[in-house]
Amino acid sequence: MQDKQRKTRKMNIKPITDPSRPKVYIETYGCQMNMNDSEVILSILQDAGYALTEDIGQADVILANTCSIRDNAEQRIWGRIDQFRLQKRRRDGVIIGIVGCMAERLKEKLLDGHTVDLVAGPDAYRSLPDLIRQISPDKPQINVLLSHEETYADISPVRMDRNGVSAYISIMRGCNNVCSYCVVPYTRGAERSRDPQSIVREAVELFENGYREVCLLGQNVDSYLWKHPDSADKNVNFAQLLEMVAKVSPDLRVRFSTSYPKDISDEVIYTMAMYENICRHIHLPVQSGSNTMLEKMRRKYNREWYLEKVGKIRSVMPDCGISTDVIAGFCGETEQDHKDTVSLMEAVGFDSAFMFQYSERPGTLAARKYPDDVPPEVKTARLNEIIALQNRLSLESNTKEVGKRHKVLIEGTSKRNEEEFTGRTSNNKVCVFAAPGHKPGDYVEVEVLSCTSATLIAKLI
Ligand code: 5AD
Ligand code: SF4
Repeated sequence: MQDKQRKTRKMNIKPITDPSRPKVYIETYGCQMNMNDSEVILSILQDAGYALTEDIGQADVILANTCSIRDNAEQRIWGRIDQFRLQKRRRDGVIIGIVGCMAERLKEKLLDGHTVDLVAGPDAYRSLPDLIRQISPDKPQINVLLSHEETYADISPVRMDRNGVSAYISIMRGCNNVCSYCVVPYTRGAERSRDPQSIVREAVELFENGYREVCLLGQNVDSYLWKHPDSADKNVNFAQLLEMVAKVSPDLRVRFSTSYPKDISDEVIYTMAMYENICRHIHLPVQSGSNTMLEKMRRKYNREWYLEKVGKIRSVMPDCGISTDVIAGFCGETEQDHKDTVSLMEAVGFDSAFMFQYSERPGTLAARKYPDDVPPEVKTARLNEIIALQNRLSLESNTKEVGKRHKVLIEGTSKRNEEEFTGRTSNNKVCVFAAPGHKPGDYVEVEVLSCTSATLIAKLI
């Protein structure tokens, strides 16, 4: 049975391009989880007879896998829905579907005025073939039920990454943290962990198909916990899962995201240090450097705790890259709170960061409890200041690499120069270099010659 299952899983790894099949076009917005969800959706639809098209003009079904994390993400998608509707006017019978977080958040509202034909939330993808079948011009379909069990563990995602070298593996879904600004717990539901055996099987299958890097995904990977049905002794936590995946092959790199500062354990840090193929990089969103803001954000840690955690990581792995997320202009943020963020960023010296202006999300605790009272121009100014700061910190961090040697996994050709490859170091720095005779998927040793704030320029050793 298992062998049979693996055979069908293997067949699924690449998109089917049979021209006689009805065609689905998928546009993905938002985070890496969504990218991987689109691969799950394609797998489900391929099994139901569809083929992927990259030409929206050929599509029978147009899907947008959406993001609700900030208002501007949703505004962009509304703009796209208008463009999708043009396709419908040109060709009868084209189906437009909104899936993912925005579908979950807005539910029936998306069907008002026959804007779209299909609305499906993140836990409803198995029902997509049935929903599509049941659509008629006056009968749009919706399924936004959230589940406590769905992990799509048995579905082998059809890889749309194109490079054939690095792939995402979702290890859990949902989030139980309820940070006050965040809509994710409402759109993706409660946290649940996926069967570790199915995760390892997926990693093995990717490795056998030439992949050399997997990124284990979850909203809060450190709270991964697979509860064994027979005995708590056989439960699997995140550190144990990391080890299981690292053991698939020393030539398979393992990354993971996202780590929640309060939950990342010493066991995880020591497991990383034990395996050369677990990449030396932790994405550790801090959100703010002010204890007042962190408390209002319900982040469950404070500045001192965060700095201590960073200290711990660096004491065990001095070469570990640390990146973060920061929100500028959260409710009631004063100039002093902002300065605390600036000083924390300086103190840590992040290697990179994603930085955002606070965007109030309806239904969240913050939207109910705290006025969104930092004026837009102040938010923008603070955001610009931290972006400028991070550019400097990234440059400083990259400058430290000049003269050092790194093992890099080649991921593809450089966008700027087709003669050069691009890949990443273990600590997640993008590297460009010439490597005649090599190909994506190869590991090479390079020496860093120079850098910008975003890239290391290197030569093959
Ligand atoms: N406004 C701005 N940024 C947000 N994030 C989450 N919710 C919001 C919001 N309402 C950011 C956080 C999180 C990242 C994925 O998105 O920094 O870590
Ligand atoms: Fe949102 Fe917080 Fe969960 Fe991250 S940990 S998804 S920020 S609620």
